[in-house]
Amino acid sequence: MTVTAPLHCIVLAAGQGTRMKSALPKVLHPVGGKAMLGHVLDTARALGAAGVHIVYGHGGDQVQSWFARTYPGVNGAHWAQQRQQLGTAHAVLQAMPQVPDGAQVLILYGDVPLTSPATLQAVVEAGRKTLAVVTVELDQPKGYGRILRKAGAVAGIVEENDASPRQKLIREVNTGIFSAPAKRLRGWLGKVRNDNAKGEYYLTDVVALAVKDRLKVATVPAASAVEVEGVNDRLQLARMERVFQLQQAEALLRDGLYLADPARFDLRGRLRHGRDVRIDVGCVLEGEVELADGVQIGPYCVLRNVRLGPGAVIEPHSILEDSTGGANVHVGPFARLRPGTELADEAKVGNFVETKKARVGRGSKINHLSYVGDAVLGADVNVGAGTITCNYDGANKHETRIDDGVFVGSNSSLVAPVRIGEGATIGAASVIAKDVPAGGLTLCRAREQKSFPGWKRPQKKAK
Ligand code: UD1
Ligand code: CA
Repeated sequence: MTVTAPLHCIVLAAGQGTRMKSALPKVLHPVGGKAMLGHVLDTARALGAAGVHIVYGHGGDQVQSWFARTYPGVNGAHWAQQRQQLGTAHAVLQAMPQVPDGAQVLILYGDVPLTSPATLQAVVEAGRKTLAVVTVELDQPKGYGRILRKAGAVAGIVEENDASPRQKLIREVNTGIFSAPAKRLRGWLGKVRNDNAKGEYYLTDVVALAVKDRLKVATVPAASAVEVEGVNDRLQLARMERVFQLQQAEALLRDGLYLADPARFDLRGRLRHGRDVRIDVGCVLEGEVELADGVQIGPYCVLRNVRLGPGAVIEPHSILEDSTGGANVHVGPFARLRPGTELADEAKVGNFVETKKARVGRGSKINHLSYVGDAVLGADVNVGAGTITCNYDGANKHETRIDDGVFVGSNSSLVAPVRIGEGATIGAASVIAKDVPAGGLTLCRAREQKSFPGWKRPQKKAK
């Protein structure tokens, strides 16, 4: 029985990313809501890597604190600092002391986020006994290292700055993704010199060194140019984002989701959906979103960590965050459900309504222009237009309880803590600061309405 060598991934992330013109290290810029480095680390994990080694340079503390936040409790990440950027071979060398001799090494890049596990798996297998390189054919190979071949076999890689005019015509280029047994790689890296146009230690020089060792260097073609594309500036980042979003949208369409336009849909997280779920244009979904059968999301909605039951309808321009809705709830247009909103089945939240930490019972309605926060509403409650729960006394938050079947007249203020008993009716424009008994009518407003027939509006003074 042969035991396969454990996989150790070395991720180069020392680049400053100057062209991003950002305070954020380049590898932390997100694609689809996830840092580029996160994509690479997740891919490494999907490959079953036993060790992941991140070579960082500037902004290392930011990268490390991002890692601690994003992968709490995950061990197996090793950090290697490259103080001066002396080249890609030098970068790999910084990680090598922590890589055991018996390992299989895979070299990845923190700014190449969309590489498929299948391509990487192929290069790892091809590199078990030799050096293997992922290559790609480009119509415009300028700037890349060219693959030199002799009688079909790989002879070396020449960098753009060192290439002859004839070599510059070669369209097969180095993606930078390499795999080799650790022990062999260590040997080659020790021999790499910096006598080239840029005065750098080129990782690509290990190819010629492997050939010198009479090894047949393997090449693995990338499935597409985009899966091996790196990000250097915000233009490339934006392009990468579109590619990624379209990939996700197409996978969801194949999975039976209705998207009005896959080019106008953004998912920055994970979406689980039932059958016949419809999402109109311009929606942004973040975090964990779960939409049951028949849910309809209107145009230009934002959903962040939201779970909706079957038949829920979200009208246009609504924003839902850390909230849940039961079957057939109806929200919006222009509604804002803030964290802790829980709508029971058949509940309705209409236009220009804001809710926060609010449990709304079955069939209850808050249809227009209201703020309901820190509140528990029973079933079949009707909250009139312009009702406000005054939940904050300037220092502390207090709860409002509205029992089953209550009718709150329009433009009422409910000063918490306060409880409104079952079936009570509150007269319009009341300020309710004391508990209200069940049933009957309660109102609190200026006692009598006065009219002054001869009253005149003030006039503007003549100049
Ligand atoms: C490199 C390859 C080239 C290949 C291209 C693919 C070398 C010598 N050349 O060229 O053959 O076609 O990538 O994109 O390897 N890095 C460090 N430390 C360093 C230098 C680089 O961490 O000292 C990192 C960079 O942050 C970057 C990656 O390694 O993520 C590639 O470095 P870069 O300088 O961009 O190499 P290229 O000239 O593009
Ligand atoms: Ca580059």
